[in-house]
Amino acid sequence: MAFGIPALLSLYEIRRETGRLSGFVLWFTGLSGSGKSTLAERVGSYIEQKGLPVERLDGDTLRGIFKSTGFSKDARDEHIKRVGLMASLLEKHGVAVVASFISPYAETRGFVRQMCNNFIEVHVAASVKECGRRDVKGLYARARAGQIRNFTGIDDPYEAPRNAELVIDTEKQDVEESVKTIIEYLQRYIDGPH
Ligand code: ADX
Repeated sequence: MAFGIPALLSLYEIRRETGRLSGFVLWFTGLSGSGKSTLAERVGSYIEQKGLPVERLDGDTLRGIFKSTGFSKDARDEHIKRVGLMASLLEKHGVAVVASFISPYAETRGFVRQMCNNFIEVHVAASVKECGRRDVKGLYARARAGQIRNFTGIDDPYEAPRNAELVIDTEKQDVEESVKTIIEYLQRYIDGPH
């Protein structure tokens, strides 16, 4: 190489070369309309800009592919465990996984947590009242009218995490503040310990 100057390496390559590559699973949980996907998209783009391999896994996207996935407890549990396995496999290969699923059951989220090495649970918190007021997809109105059954927060439970690594209250914090809080937490995974 001319003058012994090494080619520019991406952060990902440096981390791989130095054995400091560690993936993680950033898991957003919360009600429909709480802001999971918005925050996951923004944080995912940030990680990508940092040169790390990132994979987004999202409830609506996955359900768009696996259309027979229902909303009973069993169906949701199987769906979340399947996605959790996928996330853990990607993480093992150094990928930053950014997942957004309602994932309403604490035990099932715990199952995913124990499959992963670095599981970062982000509770995107907003009340049913506020999510219903936002009702971006019009689903709360339909659930209240009885047109959709097993709707989380209306006639199906949401078990809020008790020990999430991060709680983002989207009724109090706007998107910019929320993204900043999450990114600050992630620095230890992205830039290493200081
Ligand atoms: S999870 O409970 O199995 O984790 P997931 O995140 O994959 O849910 O999908 C939730 C999305 O499915 C919601 O954002 C909404 O668009 C849609 N949806 C349709 N029916 C329901 C329902 N009964 N409960 C919750 N979400 C529903």
